[in-house]
Order: sequence, then structure tokens, then C-alpha cells
Amino acid sequence: MPPAGAGKLNSVLAREARAFRELDPGGQSWSRQNYDAGYTSYGSITDLPYRSPSFARLKNFVDAEVRKYLKALRIAPPSGKIEMSTCWVNIMGRHCHHSFHLHPLSVVSGTYYVEVPRGSGAFKIEDPRLSSFMGRPCSQNPFWTLEPRPGQLVLFESWLRHEVPANRSERERISVSFNYDWIR
Ligand code: NI
Repeated sequence: MPPAGAGKLNSVLAREARAFRELDPGGQSWSRQNYDAGYTSYGSITDLPYRSPSFARLKNFVDAEVRKYLKALRIAPPSGKIEMSTCWVNIMGRHCHHSFHLHPLSVVSGTYYVEVPRGSGAFKIEDPRLSSFMGRPCSQNPFWTLEPRPGQLVLFESWLRHEVPANRSERERISVSFNYDWIR
């Protein structure tokens, strides 16, 4: 379920994401090196909920969903707590992509979709058995793809390899990603 008032929230998040891009020369430089044809605040601003009430509102929504997710998977730390450690924005221009990776040292990661023009790229995960050379029926596709919609939240355990194929749209795709860590 998207957060209540997702349409209005998304238009504010999109405007603020572009404003962060304008105000973040360090992030622009990092993105030129590491995120071709796009901007991400991953290398510069990862505390967005503490800088903007709109991102704080998004964090409240994600926190509640992550609590449900952890409960469903029966993940509970023996001490301490699991909480959001980093939260950054991604603006992917035409041809921008993010190849297969995982989120080391975190417990749960995910992405909330703000603007997803048609053809701007899917969210793709890899069957974790692939890297372990485990037998599996050949008819079974080792990849799973989701075409995200604005207002949609995707959560996954941080060890899961995933990628964002290239944006083939002329328009920008905007998302907010985050990690939840075990705080001992
Ligand atoms: Ni990722």
C-alpha cells in the first residue's frame, strides 16, 4: 500500500530531490565518477529525513513497513535495534543504470519510487543460488523483474543482489533508497 496522500507527497519529494541536486556540488561530482547520466546523493547526503519534513514523513511510512517486514521474516536482533542508517535520493537520466550489487553490512534495504516514467527501468533481482553454483531446473529464470510504480515501496534483505537496468525514457526517474542496520 502506498503512503496516504502519495501523489502530493511524491510531487514534493521530486521537487526537493531536484533541489538537493542543485545544492550539492559534492554529490554532482561523486555522481559524475560513479553514476553516469544521473545524480545520487549516496556519496554526499544520506540523512535526508533530518533535512526535510517530507523525507521525514516518508521515513515514518518506511519505518512502519520495515517493522512489519522484520516481523514477517522473524528477524529480531538479540540486542540493540534495527533502524534506518542511510537514506539517499537517485535521479536517473536517460541511459543511467545501476549494475548488480548488494548493500554490505546492512540488514534490510529498499527503495521508494517517486517518479517512474514509462520505460525508465525496472528493479531486477538475482536468484541467490546462482552465485553458489547450486543446481536448479533450467526452465527456471534466475532473475525476477518488477516494473515499479510511483508510491510503491520495495524492501529486500541487504545480501540480495539487484540492479536497475538503463533508463530508456527521455524523462528522469526518481527514487529514494535506504539501508536499515543493526545498531548494537
Ligand atoms: Ni541497491
